[in-house]
Amino acid sequence: MKMHTVAELLKKENTLHEVTIKGWVRSFRSNRFIALNDGSTLNNIQCVVNFEQTDEALLKRITTGAAVSVTGELTESQGQGQSLEIQVKSIEILGDSDPETYPIQPKKHSFEFLRENAHLRTRTNTFSAVMRLRSSLSFAIHKYFNENGFYYMHTPIITGSDAEGAGEMFRVTGLDPKNPPLTEDGKVDYSEDFFGKETNLTVSGQLEAEAYAMSLGKVYTFGPTFRAENSNTSRHLAEFWMIEPEVAFMDLAGNMDLAEDFMKSVLSYILKHNQEDLQFLNQRLLDEEKTKPQADRSDMSLIEKISFVVENNFKRVSYTEAIDILRDSKPNKKKKFNYIIEEWGADLQSEHERFLVEKHFKCPVILFDYPANIKAFYMRLNEDGKTVRAMDILFPGIGEMVGGSQREERLEVLKEKMKALNIDEEELWWYLDLRKYGTAVHSGFGLGFERLVMFATGMGNIRDVIPFPRTPQNAEF
Ligand code: 4AD
Ligand code: MG
Repeated sequence: MKMHTVAELLKKENTLHEVTIKGWVRSFRSNRFIALNDGSTLNNIQCVVNFEQTDEALLKRITTGAAVSVTGELTESQGQGQSLEIQVKSIEILGDSDPETYPIQPKKHSFEFLRENAHLRTRTNTFSAVMRLRSSLSFAIHKYFNENGFYYMHTPIITGSDAEGAGEMFRVTGLDPKNPPLTEDGKVDYSEDFFGKETNLTVSGQLEAEAYAMSLGKVYTFGPTFRAENSNTSRHLAEFWMIEPEVAFMDLAGNMDLAEDFMKSVLSYILKHNQEDLQFLNQRLLDEEKTKPQADRSDMSLIEKISFVVENNFKRVSYTEAIDILRDSKPNKKKKFNYIIEEWGADLQSEHERFLVEKHFKCPVILFDYPANIKAFYMRLNEDGKTVRAMDILFPGIGEMVGGSQREERLEVLKEKMKALNIDEEELWWYLDLRKYGTAVHSGFGLGFERLVMFATGMGNIRDVIPFPRTPQNAEF
């Protein structure tokens, strides 16, 4: 007899027969009805136990959280809310679960509580739906690039360079931090370290992806990246996953087209393939909205928001135009948007970004041509000498989802920029080689995967869309 998943059983019609299902008990009612979940779908399968013919000691062991194997006849359900059920012939307890201590009870738990039980939280509907969607989005991402002629490349996790030049790196060292070897002038002597130099966990695979773009043409990375920034927000993780395509002979306009097409494609994939989980999360959010004051309620549901992004063009606005909009907009009475920027050259704060996407344009916005001095060293300087071909994509409810640019392909300009920012040429000799030998226009971007999952699931905290979140003071699991 073949073992099935619940998802498989519910898909098959008119094939009523004897089946075996293994899963975890969500609840056990009236000594008779087991709601069994095996993670393959949101739906539990109802297993009807004949308690008169079942050993009492066995019945006692059918508790919430227990792993069981159920064999029985698959039949049309008499009860409401489900199409099929299993008339149990035999049941085996695979793993007991003490109801006194099992943390995941059939009632509603707060997300804070579930974060502390991240190893068990995917036994709830919300988290299993989120993680199935996360998996599906990952697949859609690989599918998109595969179908569009990109090669998937793996960039190193341990690197010797700081790709963003922001100094937010986790050091990788084999030296004793309390008693490191010192050079004659009292500095830490990294020549004695494992790699013989200072190394860190990567903040971005971009520089290595650029090298591959300059030979394979179209490449992308999709891997973990690490940032030691001490931001305890609902949008930042110390370890997050980033998707970074890099394309030779593509300029900034092409980069915008790629990013927009890519995001629409992966979001439409889940609209098509993950209806059940999306419907569930949609309803969860609608219920949550009802608890808010009318003025704060969203005018679109989760599924409407995703569909809107798929069906409408992103708005493309230069940094300079954005500053004018912010300057001209009357300070909003609501505190959130009170602080309106005046100065050209300042970096946008998240409240400015939110004003632009949520109040002004009400759609995803691609901001481009930022002032050179607030962006990374590798971005292509514009002919005006003061802006760079950078782009950020801002999403309603999320803020910055994508950061990217056309890269500086001119050796001398790049060297000058690095000099001005005190970036050692010797550290990046190989990166400069790419400009010495067959340089060309090229562009790419980085999309924070967890921010995309937040948007796609409507979850409000980034800690709830990655299995085991790493944030300051927190690496419990
Ligand atoms: O804007 P960032 O720093 O850009 C880069 O790293 C470029 N090297 C990418 C490239 O051009 N290949 O990061 C890219 C995106 C951000 O827009 C954001 O979505 C996400 O990565 N991100 C984070 N997500 C979660 N937690 C953090 N601490 C993040 N920092 C950036
Ligand atoms: Mg950025």
